[in-house]
Amino acid sequence: MPRKKKIDENALQRAAIELPKLSKIPQLVKGMKDILPVDQPYWEHIRTTVRKMMNNYSFERIDTPILEDLSLYTHGIGKLTDIVEKEMYNFLDQGGNHLALRPEFTAGIARGFIEHGMGNWPQPVKLYTLGQLFRYEKPQEGRYRQHHQFNCEILGEAKPSADAQIILLAYKFLKGLGIHPVMHINSIGCVQCRGAYKDTLTEYYKSKRSHTCEDCKRRLTRNVLRLLDCKEEGCQPIKAKAPHIVDALCEGCKGHFEGLLYFIDEFEIPYEHNPYLVRGLDYYTRTVFEFYASQEGEEQVKLLALGGGGRYDNLIEMFGGLPTPACGFGIGLERVILTLKNIEQAGGITPIEKKRNIDIFVAQLGEQAKRKVMMIYEDLLTEGFNLAECFVKDSLKAQLEIANKLGVAFTLILGQKELIDGTIIIRNMEGGEQEVVDIKKLIPLLHKKLGHEGPLGKEG
Ligand code: HAM
Repeated sequence: MPRKKKIDENALQRAAIELPKLSKIPQLVKGMKDILPVDQPYWEHIRTTVRKMMNNYSFERIDTPILEDLSLYTHGIGKLTDIVEKEMYNFLDQGGNHLALRPEFTAGIARGFIEHGMGNWPQPVKLYTLGQLFRYEKPQEGRYRQHHQFNCEILGEAKPSADAQIILLAYKFLKGLGIHPVMHINSIGCVQCRGAYKDTLTEYYKSKRSHTCEDCKRRLTRNVLRLLDCKEEGCQPIKAKAPHIVDALCEGCKGHFEGLLYFIDEFEIPYEHNPYLVRGLDYYTRTVFEFYASQEGEEQVKLLALGGGGRYDNLIEMFGGLPTPACGFGIGLERVILTLKNIEQAGGITPIEKKRNIDIFVAQLGEQAKRKVMMIYEDLLTEGFNLAECFVKDSLKAQLEIANKLGVAFTLILGQKELIDGTIIIRNMEGGEQEVVDIKKLIPLLHKKLGHEGPLGKEG
């Protein structure tokens, strides 16, 4: 006895040295979120919907690394954007490389397009991705420091029909989830016509400079288009009289925008022309759009865009590739899920299946029965039944309680007696009646009871 105590003490001492206790309980990093089991049905449904839809429209999946070279974003998104100026997670690695956690997907996909010679693939190249992104933003509901996007891109096509397909996909995705999306759309022209418009806008704002907020004063010299993004009350009358970029579009950009709107009308996608929409990333040319939730029960996230995107005809060339027109969108999945929950809370319908569909619980009594039942469980899984178990519990009462909670149709019970007789009990959980059946006939019998189609179910 004393010897054993000594060994235990030594072990404890060793553990204390190897694992010193933390002075405080570890906590989530600010702005990050755990996705708990209760929310997984939303994520699962979204992933399945995305895969199915992308397959239907012949988009292929690409996964780019979470870490990229910092210059990809400073160069691609623009040095004077909020994302690059204030929101990037970047650091020097042990090798002295300046890296960044990806704040968005498009720049990484454009890099991949060049690096893997996708310009030589049949054009256009249609890609999608799903994953997490990082932006050091002020956390609030619907705005996190890690968020997830469903991102979709058509690379190598300049025609408005490509923009139209991108918009249709974003719309169909949201609509299919039970959301009522409305799109804000604008054209911000090409490098040529936008240059002239920027001069006109600068002239206009210069004369009003003293009446604008501090942010606007800063934007006037650094990123003039972003003046149109100002939400400050005092700046609104000035913004309302600002010249509109659509009035300054060149013939090519105007034709593209009109062509796109024809498609949008054909698809009957609800939209508003928002002359102030410019988006927060510098790579956009011509089309820009954002989707918002529009109906009752969707209020909470109404002011935050569910998704956004547009055309970026110069990005790949800017990275050193051949001229490659492209367009795409990113939809924020946390915001989509928030909207779905709001709809459900307001009594609306969404397609999220919350309960796992389990037909049969498998219970056991005794060690030998447990071993046999674990084999039966494997056979039933191979047959495609939806099963549940709790082999670690010995009490039948406790196992039946779990089966009840799961709402299964039948519980199979194997005890010592059944084991010897080569039988098993099928308990109907609704009425509580039980029948003892020959174990060899179990599978066809269960198929029949569950009304499964197929030779065994029909025969039985
Ligand atoms: P974005 O507008 O920056 O566009 O992001 C797209 C969507 O991601 C937003 O509409 C929003 O739903 C979600 N989102 C963005 N930041 C956060 C955040 N901090 N917390 C929660 N959700 C957020 C882009 O990222 C472009 N790369 C989209 C694109 C693809 N354009 C062309 N192709």
